[in-house]
Amino acid sequence: MKAIKKAVFPVAGMGTRFLPATKANPKEMLPVVDKPLIQYAAEEAVAAGIDTLIFVTGRNKRSIEDHFDTAYELERELEAKSKDKMLEILKNILPKHVNCVFIRQSEALGLGHAVLCARPVVNDEPFAVILADDLINFAEKPCLSQMVDVFNFQHCSILGTQKVPTEDVSSYGIVDGIEVKPDLMEVSGIVEKPPVDSAPSNVAVVGRYILTPRIFDLLENTERGAGNEIQLTDAIADLLKEQRVLSYNFEGRRFDCGSKMGYLKAQVEFALEHEEVGEEFHEYLQSLHKRGMDKVVKIAGSK
Ligand code: UTP
Repeated sequence: MKAIKKAVFPVAGMGTRFLPATKANPKEMLPVVDKPLIQYAAEEAVAAGIDTLIFVTGRNKRSIEDHFDTAYELERELEAKSKDKMLEILKNILPKHVNCVFIRQSEALGLGHAVLCARPVVNDEPFAVILADDLINFAEKPCLSQMVDVFNFQHCSILGTQKVPTEDVSSYGIVDGIEVKPDLMEVSGIVEKPPVDSAPSNVAVVGRYILTPRIFDLLENTERGAGNEIQLTDAIADLLKEQRVLSYNFEGRRFDCGSKMGYLKAQVEFALEHEEVGEEFHEYLQSLHKRGMDKVVKIAGSK
């Protein structure tokens, strides 16, 4: 089986949960501290050895193309002002050997359809899919690198999963299967957004996939499913009937940045770890906490 060299970034969704911020701007361009979500995702792919980034875009997504393009005027401006550090950051958004390809999904027909749009570029290779709004922090190894390690050993499709609270299962693709090793499960079933009382487990697929190219043939014939969209989950359910599919509970903290709460948590945790602002931000949070406590004491005292 060929090595994983290509990653697909479906970024053509509407981002309705984040309106009005996403009315004219894609949610993947929302920044966490000082980098847009899509850049974290691209860096994760590059760290896993990927050299071709395939963005499936839609309307209002021009800023994603601009972000990964050279910004000559800005570079000249920074050069003239000797802002070398900023210039360095700007020039190194992606390493030189990495190529970006942009494909348009003319209609937002669902994640499965978005992945299918990448077929002409992926061709017959196994490939990764990264949903940039699932931002994953890590201690030792980025999530996709962990998954590529599993793929290199197992040579089959791998779904990145995490256990979610039972009451949340109806927001995810949920897998069923048999554990073959700690954190690794042979998938026997997968269902998109099941009702809480009929979900096969609480193991949810969260924004990272490694798939064999057979998925494209199956997606060609996938009917609209949950939410009247062409669902990647449904094509994976068909893939399971023909090929081995594993789910891997990766190490790392995931933030659902497509939701307001997940995005806010990501801001706080990434800010606390940020080398430039982390310490000051920590002090600020402590002062907020102290002010909050003072208020509680004051209220309690006045009773
Ligand atoms: P979501 O389910 O998060 O949908 O899509 P969304 O439209 O982005 O956001 P909400 O729910 O309206 O707030 C999961 C991923 O699939 C992409 C999205 O960009 C996101 O990365 N997607 C979804 C597409 O690329 N095309 C589609 O037709 C649908």
